[in-house]
Amino acid sequence: MIGKKEDMSPKNILLTGATGFIGKRLLYRLDEKGYRVRCLVRPSESLDLKIPLRHEPEIIYGDLLDPASLPKALEGMDVAYYLVHSMGGRSIRQTLAFEEKDRQAAENFRRAADLAGLPRMIYLGGLGDITDKLSHHLASRQEVGRILQAGKVQTTILRAAVIVGAGGAAFEIVRYLVERLPVLLCPKWVYTESQPIAIDNVLSYLSGCLEAQETTGRSFDIGGPQIVSYADLMRMYARVRGLKRSIVGVPMVPMKLSAYWVNMLTPVPAGVVLPLAEGLRNKAICRENEIREIIPIRLLNMEAAICDALAEEAQGPGKLLSQQACFLPEDLK
Ligand SMILES: NC(=O)c1ccc[n+]([C@@H]2O[C@H](COP(=O)([O-])OP(=O)(O)OC[C@H]3O[C@@H](n4cnc5c(N)ncnc54)[C@H](OP(=O)(O)O)[C@@H]3O)[C@@H](O)[C@H]2O)c1
Repeated sequence: MIGKKEDMSPKNILLTGATGFIGKRLLYRLDEKGYRVRCLVRPSESLDLKIPLRHEPEIIYGDLLDPASLPKALEGMDVAYYLVHSMGGRSIRQTLAFEEKDRQAAENFRRAADLAGLPRMIYLGGLGDITDKLSHHLASRQEVGRILQAGKVQTTILRAAVIVGAGGAAFEIVRYLVERLPVLLCPKWVYTESQPIAIDNVLSYLSGCLEAQETTGRSFDIGGPQIVSYADLMRMYARVRGLKRSIVGVPMVPMKLSAYWVNMLTPVPAGVVLPLAEGLRNKAICRENEIREIIPIRLLNMEAAICDALAEEAQGPGKLLSQQACFLPEDLK
C-alpha cells in the first residue's frame, strides 16, 4: 500500500525518454495503472511497442535540444517525467559532448516547463556523494537535478546506482563480460561499493511518486537491499547462470583502455561505456532511506533481479546467443 494516495482521476502525464530502457518500461507501468500518457519522442526515432498498451499513448515529436518543440509537448500537462541523458556515440569526441548537451537539454526543459506552468516534475538521476570527486557522468546527473529544481516546477529527484534489468547499459556490460570471459581481469574500481536496484523496484518508486504527494519537490535516494561491489555483482550473475568464473584484480589499467576493451566485448557503445566506467570509481550508496517509509515496497535482491532480467532477455530477440537458463535457488527468489 502506498501512503496518502492522490485522486486517480485522469492526470496528464508527459513522459520524456519514452524510447529508453526506463522510460519504455514506465510507460507500461503507468498504462497498467490506468494513466494516459503523452510521450515525447525525437523526430528521428519511433516508439516501438511490441506488446500493445491498454490505452494508445499520445506521441509528440520533439527534442530537448530544440526549445521550439517543447511548448506543444508541455501544453496541458500536470506532471512530466524527465528520463533523458545524452551519453552515447561510438567516438570519444561524441562522448565528451554529453555534459554540455545534458545541461542544455535540462535548461531548455526547465524554461519551457516554467512558461507552460507545469505543476510537477519527476527526475531519475544518479547516486554519488558530492564530497567525493564525482565522475563527469555522475556530476552531470546531479547538475541536471539542480537545474530542474531551480525552476518554478515542484521537482522530485530520485537518485539510483546501477539499475538491474534487461537492456540497461550497466547491467548489459556485466552480462556480456561474464557470459563471454571465463577469467575476468578487472581494474581495482570493480571493488567499489554500490547499491544496485531492480528495475521493477525503480518503476514502483517512479510511479509511486505520482501518487504519494509528500514526495513533491523533494529528493530521495533509492537502492536495493544489498550493498555490493561490481565484482560481487559479476559473481552473482555467474552464480545465477551456473557459470564458473574467476575475477582477478589487475592494478593500473587506464580508464580509456578498459572502456575500449569493454566496448569490444559488449554491444554497449564506447560513448556510454566510458562515462559509466569512470563513475565506477565513486561509491554509490544511499545516504538515507526515507522513500521506504513513503512508498513501502518489497525490495528485490540482486540475484532475483538478475533472474528476472534473464527471463526477459530469453523472451526477446537478445543479441547474445547463449541459453538464458537461470540457476537461482528457490530460497533466493
Ligand atoms: N540505466 C541505469 O542503470 C540508470 C541508473 C541510474 C539512473 N539512471 C537514469 O535514468 C534515466 C534514463 O536512463 P535510461 O537508462 O533509460 O537511458 P536510455 O535507455 O539511454 O534512454 C535515454 C532516453 O533519452 C532520450 N533522449 C536523449 N537525448 C534526448 C533529447 N535531446 N531529446 C529527447 N529525448 C532524448 C533517448 O531518446 P532516443 O531514443 O531518441 O535516443 C532515450 O529515450 C537517466 O536520467 C539516467 O541517468 C539510469
